[in-house]
Amino acid sequence: MRCTYMRFARRVLAAAAVALLAVSGCGSIGKDPGAAEVEVFTWWADGGEKAGLDALVSRFTADCPGQQFENAAVAGGAGVNAKQRLLTRIQRNDPPDTFQVHAGAELDDYIAAGRLQDLTADYDAWGLRQVLPPGLLEGLTVNGKIYSVPANIHRANVVWVNTRVLAEAGITGTPRTLDALLRDLATLRGAGIEAPLAVGRDWTQLMLLEAVLISHLGAESFTRLFTGATDWNSGEVTEALGDYAALLDYSNADRDSRDWPEAERLLVEGRAAFHVMGDWAAPGLDHFTFPGNDGVFQWLADSFVLPTGAANPDGTRCWLRTVASAEGQREFNVRKGSIPARTDVAGTGFSGYQLAAMRDWKSDIPVPSCAHGSACSQDWQNAVNTALGTFSIARYKDIASLREALAAAAAQYIKG
Ligand code: GAL
Repeated sequence: MRCTYMRFARRVLAAAAVALLAVSGCGSIGKDPGAAEVEVFTWWADGGEKAGLDALVSRFTADCPGQQFENAAVAGGAGVNAKQRLLTRIQRNDPPDTFQVHAGAELDDYIAAGRLQDLTADYDAWGLRQVLPPGLLEGLTVNGKIYSVPANIHRANVVWVNTRVLAEAGITGTPRTLDALLRDLATLRGAGIEAPLAVGRDWTQLMLLEAVLISHLGAESFTRLFTGATDWNSGEVTEALGDYAALLDYSNADRDSRDWPEAERLLVEGRAAFHVMGDWAAPGLDHFTFPGNDGVFQWLADSFVLPTGAANPDGTRCWLRTVASAEGQREFNVRKGSIPARTDVAGTGFSGYQLAAMRDWKSDIPVPSCAHGSACSQDWQNAVNTALGTFSIARYKDIASLREALAAAAAQYIKG
């Protein structure tokens, strides 16, 4: 109650400040004191992420007269800082009007805690059931109800490449297997590139590990790691962890202190040749599907919700409708690097990479991502990231201990 009051007071003060600035002739800060605010919480604060958000905001401003966007972005890839801040606000009953959350297990946690409002009637009113892929709709439906609106589909299992660095080391082909990738890394090191694989902090290490697990287990068995049907203590997982350790050995020693844009910079500056990252990575870089992942599309989807206790539900519904619209998804995704979640958005304006991703999304086998919440809950992801952090800094890479920590996390968080 107190927080709702504080939020109200904050808004009144903000409106008063805007009015004062307008009266004093300094009102060119883009705020309309007469409009209601929709506070949108994301981690899209820089680069292509911000450009995508900005495009969505322009659409929202045009589509939703009388409403204005209030940016509550908290910087940090994959929401490393944002998610904690959001949790604190939600626990204080002071939610933003809407927030970014991954479709899948990450979203389920909020639904189970009763933090989200049911959008099923809006889906029907906006005709969304006809334009979203049935598999995605199924993943968004909990006990017959839908609580979030997907903005996009990203692909995680992509390797981005600096072809100049490869050419200088005499490498021209694409590695199709993990062994071939390890051979290329050895060649690069021999040619003087000390850390040819760019890697960043915890969650980016998890992305690398997941891609290696897909190579060893295949799509189906990998997906079952998150349902309890595949054993984390199996020989295949152990072998995958061995390859993961070998790959990490070719990466930059300061990985734990780099967010993904700083890891990507190593690639762009020619200090590394390969970087495993989702397709929010800089456009224009060459890329290939992670070796052994061919025909497998590791997906994640950013979605937006209407939290229980949101201050401006009407304005938020208009934001959600913009996010859901064909034009909103086109303008957002063209800049964000992802592809529309809707199936009826024309390809105009999308890059060659994105057009290929649209085709692959239709034909490949979809598998979810733990690093980006489609496969595992936030608590589970935190436990895995902690285990990977310990492994990353250890001088002696104890694979058995890592496997035990991953198996313990699965045992703790797989829902009975
Ligand atoms: C993901 C998110 C993407 C992108 C990425 C890097 O979790 O789904 O949209 O923001 O993090 O920050």
